[in-house]
Amino acid sequence: MPDKRRMPTTTLPNWRCFVNEDSPEFELFSEAQWRAMADPERDEYDEARVDYHSELVIVETPAIREILHQGRLLTLVNRREISARRGLIVSGPWATGKSTAIKQLGRAHELRVRRRYPDHDRIPVVYVSAPPNGSPRKLATRFAHFLGLPLKSRHNEMDIADAVCEILTEARCDLVLVDEIHNIQMGTSSGKDMSDHLKYFAEHIPATFVYAGINVEREGLFTGVRGKQIAARCVMQHTANFPYGSEWRSMIATMEHALRLHRHEVGTLARQAKYLHTRTGGSISSLSHLIRAAAISAMPTAANRSPAACCTPSRSTTTPSPTAPARRGKPRTTSGTQRERFPLVASAPGPAPHRRPTAPRIMGFLHEAACQGEPAPVHALARTPRRPCSHPAGAFALAGRDL
Ligand SMILES: Nc1ncnc2c1ncn2[C@@H]1O[C@H](COP(=O)(O)OP(=O)(O)OP(=O)(O)O)[C@@H](O)[C@H]1O
Ligand SMILES: [Mg+2]
Repeated sequence: MPDKRRMPTTTLPNWRCFVNEDSPEFELFSEAQWRAMADPERDEYDEARVDYHSELVIVETPAIREILHQGRLLTLVNRREISARRGLIVSGPWATGKSTAIKQLGRAHELRVRRRYPDHDRIPVVYVSAPPNGSPRKLATRFAHFLGLPLKSRHNEMDIADAVCEILTEARCDLVLVDEIHNIQMGTSSGKDMSDHLKYFAEHIPATFVYAGINVEREGLFTGVRGKQIAARCVMQHTANFPYGSEWRSMIATMEHALRLHRHEVGTLARQAKYLHTRTGGSISSLSHLIRAAAISAMPTAANRSPAACCTPSRSTTTPSPTAPARRGKPRTTSGTQRERFPLVASAPGPAPHRRPTAPRIMGFLHEAACQGEPAPVHALARTPRRPCSHPAGAFALAGRDL
């Protein structure tokens, strides 16, 4: 059975898989075709739809657009720079799309480099995350792990760092993404050491460094004299929860357009934009979870058909639809094609809104049609053909390369 999981992008093969993948696509059959399917065939079709909805879509938010723009600009400005290369800091509260944005920047950059130099062996982008309670050695190990370098206990952090810098310089790396930098705390001696080490990488790899972390402008890596020295060379970009407004409505419209559900009424989600905002506190993470979970719950998959997995709304979060037939006694499990009419009732994780509203009677039925009268949707990120996920041994012969 093929492994459908998506692996963390902290190794070169997994990063390349991520770069090769495009947003998923799914072609919905007509309802008549769907009903006419034999059970096993329909199960397979619905399982594929679950896969599709579990990933759904990356929305090109204004923050992503700006980060893509600034990142691109910096790589160009830094091209001929010798030492004081400029970097980018992406800072914001938790779960506001920082990692998503910097990975999209890395992906866009790598695809551009591949197009420009199709025959070159390069590693244009590195993605690492700063280790919690880390040390310079642990940080250097993250880079080595990305490259698949075999490490021995006798290697100290400088051995590892030098090998990493040499390989990345040779491999024409020009963008280094360092995520979770809130793990580097300048208030601690190990944090200071890690920051110095990061600076060493930034000085020895001729690349643009992009840092992302939770509210890092006020605390962490960029405080104190050393921190300010790094920050002075960086452009700052913020991510945040969305205020209620046209961007929020556009984002919902984009996610709604991406849904592939039968019998979904036009504009249902877009019409509930205000409620969804109050419910999620304007969090893109909560919104994405809520919509994906509701869509998956709406589907008549084998798992959903079992009574235990029934997604009947809990009393605290829903009230029955005025149009739904009154239910008495135990909740009924739905099955087969009926299930597609399941309302959006999943509870979203993430920032709990101060005023948790009563859910509207029913969120209506999810559907894929255009939302008339609603703001034009912002775009999902541009598509490129989805290629099979191969694990090139590394254009650079990294495997087996010792320090
Ligand atoms: N542009 C987007 N389009 C669709 N969904 C998004 C987008 N950005 C973020 N999300 C959703 O929000 C979730 C959290 O995003 P992400 O991990 O990028 O946030 P973060 O700010 O890095 O979080 P943390 O502070 O925990 O590191 C993602 O898993 C995804 O479901
Ligand atoms: Mg993150």
